[in-house]
Amino acid sequence: MDMFSLAIHGGEPVRRRPFPRWPFSDDEEVREVLEVLREGPWSAGSQKIRLFEEEFASFHHARYGVSCTSGSVALFVSLKALGVGSGDEVIVPAYTFLATATAVIDAGATPVIVDIDPTTYNISPEAVAKAVTDKTRCIIPVHLAGCPADMDKILETAEKRGLRVLEDAAQAHGAEWRGRRVGSLGNMAGFSFYQSKNMASGEGGIITTNDETLAELARSLVNVGRDVKRGWYEHVRYGWNFRMTAFQAAILRAQLRRLSELNMRRTRSADFLDERLREIDGVEPLEKPPQVTAHSYHLYIVRVDVKKFGFSAKEEFVKALNAEGIPCNAGYRPLSSYWFIAEKSHIPMPLKNTEKASQYEAVWIPQYVLLGEREDLMDVVDAFAKLRKAAGS
Ligand SMILES: Cc1ncc(COP(=O)(O)O)c(C=O)c1O
Repeated sequence: MDMFSLAIHGGEPVRRRPFPRWPFSDDEEVREVLEVLREGPWSAGSQKIRLFEEEFASFHHARYGVSCTSGSVALFVSLKALGVGSGDEVIVPAYTFLATATAVIDAGATPVIVDIDPTTYNISPEAVAKAVTDKTRCIIPVHLAGCPADMDKILETAEKRGLRVLEDAAQAHGAEWRGRRVGSLGNMAGFSFYQSKNMASGEGGIITTNDETLAELARSLVNVGRDVKRGWYEHVRYGWNFRMTAFQAAILRAQLRRLSELNMRRTRSADFLDERLREIDGVEPLEKPPQVTAHSYHLYIVRVDVKKFGFSAKEEFVKALNAEGIPCNAGYRPLSSYWFIAEKSHIPMPLKNTEKASQYEAVWIPQYVLLGEREDLMDVVDAFAKLRKAAGS
């Protein structure tokens, strides 16, 4: 096969058909949303919201759920409820979405940015232990791509040093560590329902916790500082309107009912891709630690040695794979590469693994690809194989 058969050079692509559409909905969402539309309430006081909060929290082995407007807000409000503020340090991984750090900055604290594990891309527990100082109040492990971070070691450090743990579970609906669902492992957790997520309502978020006091505080903070037992205009603390609408909750009730089945499908597909892509020289899927009893595969991430594919930069590889009809992207830049984050953060160590992942290795395939059939997944494998073959040995 010569270079010119690659789609990026004008050749025939491996695939022209689209992958399954996401977000996905059926009559369940329509029924739930119509109920809200016709019967109301559309926001505060809605039974749908209360039911969704209870169902989502209990599914995640947590006692309380507080819905809100986004995953970013869920993290910010959790930090405020935990009492994190000025003068405090919060340890975050360098390889994450911006909101993990902006939530800390908005709460008035300082993000302490640490490196990741090179095999999972999750926060390195060793780096966390090293970064703890007298000012540290909280650790935010991000369950990247839907793979739980090493909660054994993170909770051990937290306990030893008297720190709070806020799980960033924005990508990890339904994921488990040793049979326990994320959202119940730390003191609090934040999930996102942005349209790309495994559970989607366009926008939206939820906080989960097992602590009644924290739940009540969070509920007040997202409701303009109200106390539910008092009147609408009797605000008892400073707060914001971060309330979810009943339409979002209605959609999410239907999405939650479908979550396990779709996550299982994603997992079967990921296992298949792991096996097939490993056979291609220059491709290494991320590792799934044995304690991970359920991965939600919000993303399917592979480590690619793009030089073996004849490319000098990862972006070229991504473009070539896209041209073959495979949705993929280059993923995050390190948090530290954004000056407006770096200037408000501490970066106590080199971020070598993050830089390597970001600059050279990580290629992200979105979760809806994993909802395809075997033949769809074979197109993914064939596209990688085609690019590799074009480069020669
Ligand atoms: C790891 C992580 N944290 C936080 C967020 C923020 O969620 P949202 O976009 O709902 O604000 C996202 C999602 O975008 C995310 O992927």
